[in-house]
Amino acid sequence: MTTDSSGKSSEATDSGERLPLAAVPWVTRAMACVLLKLRDKACRRNGTINRRLINIIDFKSPPTRKPDVKGISSSDVTIDPSRKLWFRLFTPTASTTASSSSLPLIVYFHGGGFATMSAASRPYDAFCRRLASELSAIVASVEYRLSPEHRFPSQYEDGFDALRFVAENSATLLPENADLSRCFLAGDSAGGNLAHHVVVRVAQSKLEGVKIRGLIAFQPFFGGTEQTESEIRNKKAPLLNVALADWFWRAFLPEGADRDHGAANVSGPNAVDISVLAEFPATMVIAGGMDPLHDWQVKYYEWLKRSGKEAELVYYPNMVHGFYGFPELLDATQLLSKVKDFVTRRSLNQMSE
Ligand SMILES: *[C@@H]1O[C@H](CO)[C@@H](O)[C@H](O)[C@H]1NC(C)=O
Ligand SMILES: *[C@@H]1O[C@H](CO)[C@@H](O)[C@H](O)[C@H]1NC(C)=O
Repeated sequence: MTTDSSGKSSEATDSGERLPLAAVPWVTRAMACVLLKLRDKACRRNGTINRRLINIIDFKSPPTRKPDVKGISSSDVTIDPSRKLWFRLFTPTASTTASSSSLPLIVYFHGGGFATMSAASRPYDAFCRRLASELSAIVASVEYRLSPEHRFPSQYEDGFDALRFVAENSATLLPENADLSRCFLAGDSAGGNLAHHVVVRVAQSKLEGVKIRGLIAFQPFFGGTEQTESEIRNKKAPLLNVALADWFWRAFLPEGADRDHGAANVSGPNAVDISVLAEFPATMVIAGGMDPLHDWQVKYYEWLKRSGKEAELVYYPNMVHGFYGFPELLDATQLLSKVKDFVTRRSLNQMSE
């Protein structure tokens, strides 16, 4: 199934770059612009990262026990203090959901090129709250180790261990109405890549206590040695440009590895053959036409189909990388209703099994 947000004008005016974010207040855009410039500066040419600068520009939100206006409360749960592994749990309170109904669990991985951002970063705290509220779901947003201090496969290990920890300790950690037979893995950008690789590990290892019903990959971060057409077209796109994506891969992949490593070139010959993995769930892939990673996301979708997996592509021709983080955008709102629909359909599917 291919969907696009038709009805929106795609006429390119001036630079064509500002257009997709026109509905975002200028203060937000100006602020983002400054922060992104500083982020580029913090990612040093010699491959190290200026953590002090990154932490200054990465505003954090504390967890809130008291429910917010949408009825979502949050708390932080430690998994392994030795590697600072934890997750932020977002819970819809009883007054906002039918008290007898069970809620699906969404395990979420934030983006940031594997090297930046946190489950506590303001945009991610806000986005996960929104997911919990709009989807009536319990959301566990995982804080994993970052590169270049911790390279591949640290992030995948942390992701898998976090999921296993939740599965093994659900009775004490999660609210009573959490339904682990309706678990979804989701993530955006590098988090979408991470969610994919965790799903592969789950399908290989037959993790007990949790049933993965679907994978939701918001503009996942994949790559390869070949340059794609969308990388050329959107080389200097806002929010994620090709130079920064290159930097993120160098910081993440093992020293000396090239971009055809199975972690990046996910549909290439070095990738895991998922056609033999019966447990690989239905996947929703979200792509934007103005994202340099667009072609990789479409390739990923096509590879899932070729491997005999259920997959849906949700395509927004005018959207840039990370557009879902701007609730002012109509496409971002529409996307959440599509995600909700996916979660509902996959849940019904379970009941008829
Ligand atoms: C990289 O550059 C920074 C700042 O210029 C410097 O402090 C650091 O020691 C350098 N690291 C390496 C491994 O070259
Ligand atoms: C993916 O990897 C293979 C080699 O492992 C390479 O032949 C292919 O060109 C890569 N795809 C892209 C688009 O870079």
